Amino acid sequence: MSSLFLLYLLFLLPFFCHSLPLCRNSCGNIRIDYPFAVDDGCGAPLYRNMLNCSTTLATNTTISTADLFFETPSGSYKVESIDYSDKTLTIYDPSMSTCTILQPHHDFVLSDVQSALIPPSPDTVFALMNCSIDSPVLNHYKSLCFNFSADHSCDELYGSCTSFKIFQMLANDTPPACCFTSYSTVKFMSMNILDCTHYTTFYDADKLKGEKPMDWSYGMKLTYGVPDTGCDRCRKSGGTCGFDVETEGTVCICSASVNSTRECGAGTVAGGSSGGGGGIGQGHGGLLLPSILHLSTILFASTIFL
Ligand SMILES: *[C@@H]1O[C@H](CO)[C@@H](O)[C@H](O)[C@H]1NC(C)=O
Ligand SMILES: *[C@@H]1O[C@H](CO)[C@@H](O)[C@H](O)[C@H]1NC(C)=O
Ligand SMILES: *[C@@H]1O[C@H](CO)[C@@H](O)[C@H](O)[C@H]1NC(C)=O
Ligand SMILES: *[C@@H]1O[C@H](CO)[C@@H](O)[C@H](O)[C@H]1NC(C)=O
Ligand SMILES: *[C@@H]1O[C@H](CO)[C@@H](O)[C@H](O)[C@H]1NC(C)=O
Repeated sequence: MSSLFLLYLLFLLPFFCHSLPLCRNSCGNIRIDYPFAVDDGCGAPLYRNMLNCSTTLATNTTISTADLFFETPSGSYKVESIDYSDKTLTIYDPSMSTCTILQPHHDFVLSDVQSALIPPSPDTVFALMNCSIDSPVLNHYKSLCFNFSADHSCDELYGSCTSFKIFQMLANDTPPACCFTSYSTVKFMSMNILDCTHYTTFYDADKLKGEKPMDWSYGMKLTYGVPDTGCDRCRKSGGTCGFDVETEGTVCICSASVNSTRECGAGTVAGGSSGGGGGIGQGHGGLLLPSILHLSTILFASTIFL
């Protein structure tokens, strides 16, 4: 009887563990990996609280969908994808104007840490539209505006986007000024200082030669750096990189009950020259060593309970 119960536990425990990871490694269909995290104490401390995985229950169903958001002082932006090899993250602001929809602007503001660590890529272009004749980008800071791919000028947007045609229609003779510029302009001058009523952003600007504005990729691509905090060493030993929520000192999370400063396994597993503490947060079961660890834990726990 008791051995049956033990067997039952033995099979179920790994499943419980894998369904309750310390550090979630995905949100919806987006993989979450170092330096990012959606659980506090996971990932790199510099990226703390930057991502938010929010689960919403679809109407009328029991199916919940998880969406990942990039949190900034100016709001939450939906993360469309993260490319870990390119070190880029693509975000989309649903309240931004695009070629098909006109919406009032709100400023795009990053925290100081964000604009240093994860700024928009050089090929993310900000199109400032309906700028007043007093706008700095028409006067003193004229040189901050550019045309790109040789064949695209900002005024093109007024002519070819259904949403922006209104500017041309309202103008008697010449349409209001328009300026393609980069993030640094928007970083140093708010939309009010720039004196433009609308803006849109798109990325992969250098791949848009010959493409109509209708087909551009609206949103932003952010580029990030990965801090060198010895995460590789932790990861190789089967751990998950994280940090102490109080001191923000880096830790290597090995299991629910074991954290180490650098790597897992050292000294905890007999003959464990290859390490392998078996990270519960890793979800990579199937290794012999962790299984043995599970087994001994269960046997130990069982002798106490039974
Ligand atoms: C290990 O670190 C994580 C992340 O900071 C924390 O949530 C967890 O409580 C720590 N566990 C131990 C046993 O200290
Ligand atoms: C996460 O994002 C959602 C959606 O924008 C927002 O409603 C929620 O307040 C955010 N949560 C945190 C902790 O920032
Ligand atoms: C939700 O359920 C109501 C009543 O069952 C139905 O009339 C409505 O069409 C459903 N809405 C959606 C989005 O499925
Ligand atoms: C364009 O800007 C002017 C002020 O410079 C403003 O009065 C007008 O409403 C704006 N056009 C639209 C369509 O918002
Ligand atoms: C961009 O192109 C437009 C239209 O061809 C032109 O009027 C404008 O002077 C150009 N701007 C720059 C900064 O080259």
